[in-house]
Amino acid sequence: MKKKLIREWTREERYRLYEDYSTEELVCLEAVVAQSSYRQTYHVQPKTGLLNDPNGFSFFNGRYHLFYQWFPMGPIHGVKYWYHLSSVDLIHWQEEGIGLAPDTEFDSHGVFSGSALAVDDRLFMMYTGNVRDEDWQRTPYQMTAYMDRTGTIKKNFPVISGAPIGYTDHFRDPKVWKENDHYYVIIGAQRENQTGTCLIYQSIDLVCWKFLGELETSLLDFGYMWECPDYFVLDGIGFLLFSPQGLNADGDRYRNIYQTGYLSGKPVDWQERKLQHGAFQELDAGFDFYAAQTMLTPDDRRILIGWMGLPEIGYPSDSDQWAHCLTIPREIKQVNGKLFQVPVKELTLLRQNEQDIDTSVTGCQKLSVTGTSYELELKLEAASARRFGIQLRADETGILGTKLLIDLTENKLTLDRGPAGEPFAEEYGSIRKIDYTRSNIRIRIFVDVSSLEIFVNDGEAVFTTRIFTRTDQRNIFLISEGGITKVSGKKWDLRL
Ligand code: FRU
Repeated sequence: MKKKLIREWTREERYRLYEDYSTEELVCLEAVVAQSSYRQTYHVQPKTGLLNDPNGFSFFNGRYHLFYQWFPMGPIHGVKYWYHLSSVDLIHWQEEGIGLAPDTEFDSHGVFSGSALAVDDRLFMMYTGNVRDEDWQRTPYQMTAYMDRTGTIKKNFPVISGAPIGYTDHFRDPKVWKENDHYYVIIGAQRENQTGTCLIYQSIDLVCWKFLGELETSLLDFGYMWECPDYFVLDGIGFLLFSPQGLNADGDRYRNIYQTGYLSGKPVDWQERKLQHGAFQELDAGFDFYAAQTMLTPDDRRILIGWMGLPEIGYPSDSDQWAHCLTIPREIKQVNGKLFQVPVKELTLLRQNEQDIDTSVTGCQKLSVTGTSYELELKLEAASARRFGIQLRADETGILGTKLLIDLTENKLTLDRGPAGEPFAEEYGSIRKIDYTRSNIRIRIFVDVSSLEIFVNDGEAVFTTRIFTRTDQRNIFLISEGGITKVSGKKWDLRL
């Protein structure tokens, strides 16, 4: 497949505001995006341009609210907006248009990431205003805004200007929550010695924020910046979720350009601000996952959505003038201090046309079921096979198609997107692996036109991955090498 060239954008183009584009330009851009063969069917994606982090994920006034980082005009990281969606079921999202625009002197170069919390009859929002001066020096402002019940959003003045002493201008992504009688916010930061950390502020009125200090962990030199932190307590355990930048690959771990993962321990006492934790755990074993954010539903489920993409990497949809999507919402569960991810139950609303799969495989078997947007729920059990698994979005012959394989000699579960279709991000490799010793596996796979989300054994591991295939790659192959594998389960088409 041919690689199309993406042009360079000038600084002026990157910072040109949405309202300065003519209707003709916008119509033309939308038409280019609409003909892209990579458009998703049930994932949140931008109508044009680039989407990145999920922001302001919350429940307010009877609906879920979700915003995302948006540069409307092309597949690059230009001046950012918050684009607003709302939903009653976390699955059918209504487009609400631009929520926050870079229209003040405190966010002129981007309304960066942040969070939201329902407080009385308003939705409180907190985000980082990104400002550059003539010399391109950055000042981050932590900004607040409120949305009322009519959906009108009003911004306030910055509540925190610049970074505290000892920290650089990489200071962003406030995540707010309430605990006892106080509000807290955790903000991603970089120490002056170029290491990443998180800072904690406390407030009683959401207006005056008192700087408490760093959230102390034992990771004093763990990447150069921690983006998009989140803190929550689940089943009496405290979890610090964040996206560190600058980790070196280490065996099967940290293979992507940047990571997202968590530390867990006893819930933090905010007077002490210490988290006694175990090892950093990556949240996802796939290729495209970053900047995840959680929220608590009215029925007390902790739901997580991530950005199904990474910064500083070109994606094949770039040449169609759009980039990225969000993951499906996942309920996170605590199992022995580890976070498991399970697709939210509301996703079953999309199931149509149920088909059974029940077979014994030796070698390679093409299933009669096919598709590009579907869910598979399968149990695979190696009777005598040494290597077994599945190939998704395959062509007729199985030369093209992404492979998930368990190798009982190597004791690994491997995702190989090398043969997926159009190659990209190849400098980060095309294989991801985790340790795996069992001769059976239960998998739930959410396939969409240009993505795979693979949930292993009730969510103990997840592989989240974009793939860019030909439209005729609709086949599913089962693979069993060195013996027999029994496979049973169901497939549903997924439609909004
Ligand atoms: C993470 C991030 C955030 C920042 C936002 C800007 O992807 O770099 O730290 O707020 O994106 O779009």
